[in-house]
Amino acid sequence: MAKIKVRVPGSSANMGPGFDSLGLALTIYNYIEVEETEQGLSIVISDAETKEFLPTDEKNLVYKSMKYLFEKAGHTPKGLKLTLTSEVPVTRGLGSSSACIIGGLVAANELSGRKFSPREIMTMATKIEGHSDNVCAAFLGGFTVSVFDKDEVFYYSHKINGDLKCLVLIPDYAVTTQKARNTLPGYYPKRDVAFNISHAALLVASMVSGNYDNLLCAIDDRVHEPYRKIFIDGYQKLYNKLRTYGSLGTFISGSGPTLASIIEADDAESFLEDIKEYTDKAFPTWSVKLLDIDNEGAKIIE
Ligand code: HSE
Repeated sequence: MAKIKVRVPGSSANMGPGFDSLGLALTIYNYIEVEETEQGLSIVISDAETKEFLPTDEKNLVYKSMKYLFEKAGHTPKGLKLTLTSEVPVTRGLGSSSACIIGGLVAANELSGRKFSPREIMTMATKIEGHSDNVCAAFLGGFTVSVFDKDEVFYYSHKINGDLKCLVLIPDYAVTTQKARNTLPGYYPKRDVAFNISHAALLVASMVSGNYDNLLCAIDDRVHEPYRKIFIDGYQKLYNKLRTYGSLGTFISGSGPTLASIIEADDAESFLEDIKEYTDKAFPTWSVKLLDIDNEGAKIIE
């Protein structure tokens, strides 16, 4: 019976001003192992923390994404066994649902004879997720820019050459994307729109050129962060600390509550030491991780 294992990176969406468009794939992974069986559905979730959040029946997002593609491909497996291992924490703003969706779609596409192109997979993933930023980063890796327009996804992935790292500060509480989206206004004043367009454009130029001098300014946002920072304990203090320690730019990762900070690889170890000294006292229950940028995206590893 056919068997496959896919590795998918977690991701940090928005990067400040790029709401629903920009993404950064990170070296924290979900592993999705799928085996076609004689009958039924079996879903095994290997870690206790994830078990709490992910259903092990037909409501499971990896399974639902696979079913979505199988139906389009006209492929009907007799049964399926899914074994899921998640490093990406759920409901923390690190793209865990997108990693599930991309993992399910990539595995299902492989099992049904690779009927769909990358663009078609991206479109399916965006329709399931509702926005393209995390799914694009999870699928392609690197720093990604995407646009979902008239039912089609347009995207670009820029690979980062190892000069940047991303420090993530992950609170021990959840904020659902739904809740974080519901706090946003329906309309914005022209000055905020102009602010975000100019900052997002400068951010893309900085990331793609590798000239990071403008990042600190570029990473500022007026579309979602001002409304979401209330969900993050000690946001302002942490933001200021990260800046004092030499961060190139700090932003709310996706819809939060994780905070992400871009740092130069050369300074990363001392930066981590400094910030750990502070968070160990101020936020002892949070998890602080120094991650690289994943440049590979979703990958079939077996
Ligand atoms: N762009 C989305 C949001 C990401 O900010 O709501 C959710 O992970």
